[in-house]
Amino acid sequence: MKTKIVKIENENLLDKALIEAATILKDGGLVVFPTETVYGLGANALNSKAVQSIFEAKGRPQDNPLIIHVANKNIDFLVSEITSFAKKLMDKFWPGPLTLIMKKSDIVPNVTSAGLETVGIRMPSNLIARQLIESAGVPIAAPSANLSGKPSPTTLESCVEDLKGRVDFIIGGEMSKVGLESTIVDCTVDPPCVLRPGGITLEMLKTVDERVYIDSAILNNMNQNEKPRAPGMKYRHYAPNVPMKIISGDLDNIVEYINKMCQEYRNNSIKVGIIATEETKNSYSYGIIKSLGTRKDLNTVSYNLFNTLRSFNNEDVDLILGESFLEEGIGIAIMNRLKKAAGYDIIKV
Ligand code: TXA
Ligand code: MG
Repeated sequence: MKTKIVKIENENLLDKALIEAATILKDGGLVVFPTETVYGLGANALNSKAVQSIFEAKGRPQDNPLIIHVANKNIDFLVSEITSFAKKLMDKFWPGPLTLIMKKSDIVPNVTSAGLETVGIRMPSNLIARQLIESAGVPIAAPSANLSGKPSPTTLESCVEDLKGRVDFIIGGEMSKVGLESTIVDCTVDPPCVLRPGGITLEMLKTVDERVYIDSAILNNMNQNEKPRAPGMKYRHYAPNVPMKIISGDLDNIVEYINKMCQEYRNNSIKVGIIATEETKNSYSYGIIKSLGTRKDLNTVSYNLFNTLRSFNNEDVDLILGESFLEEGIGIAIMNRLKKAAGYDIIKV
């Protein structure tokens, strides 16, 4: 398949590429587009055949449902019920990095919801995304625009690397501002439950209903018996090409431990990549050291995370060591992605 690639500068909503891409979507094609969380791989959510081709382009397991993206809050036709909690969340956090799980209407095809009676819906804040959906005139099903298993893409270059030749059109914009996929909240249960942590934090959700909690399968490092309620969270994900370990504990201990490990690796000619922070990057002297940003602003860390993970695929390293972060605020989402990238190989120091 020939893939047309266009970068839209300065969020220029008049760019004619947007109309061209919207027409492709309407006609059943596949279009990659930027959002504030990560780039999405979109198709007409109401067209089963188009949605099926998303699964093929990504190599995505068929039992993993897709999020439907909308350009405005008129979602009555997609759902059979909007709870008062869901309504409050829509009012407060849409457009933005928040997906709400609701009971689906009959119009949503089974392939989109992977056979579930529920559907995830999100109204992105990214203007290019919204203009595209608006112009297509249909809701857009879109998973992250990576090959299944790889880190989600936050740049045009990452999308091209994974999906060139597999989709009709790739629209580029700026690097995704949040850098992690949307927070997912199940609004069909009471109390409401966070199925995937993201940029809208637990603290922010609690301002709407203080009973909101995070699914235990996410916080407890997912042992074998536990199954997260967002089907996608059980799959190995975000994985770099080489093994990765997370070193967790007090920052001083982390640095000391990584340096000790590096000494051994150096003696055995094992090449190491280190995912560090501004505060620690100068404390290491072996391996390829990359900083995610400062610990004083975890939004920067989340912004850089996936791009940094991906960038190690172009480095000559045998394994990657990553520092842990405090699991509070957006730190919960950052640690969730890091643990998954490391296949839950966590060393406590
Ligand atoms: O930020 C995002 O949400 C990005 C951008 C493109 O909007 N999209 C994204 O989609 O991350 P994807 O397909 O990579 O992840 C969707 C997650 C999966 O873990 C899936 O299992 C879960 O959402 N999900 C979708 N529908 C669901 C449902 N009805 N019930 C429970 N989980 C659902
Ligand atoms: Mg994904």
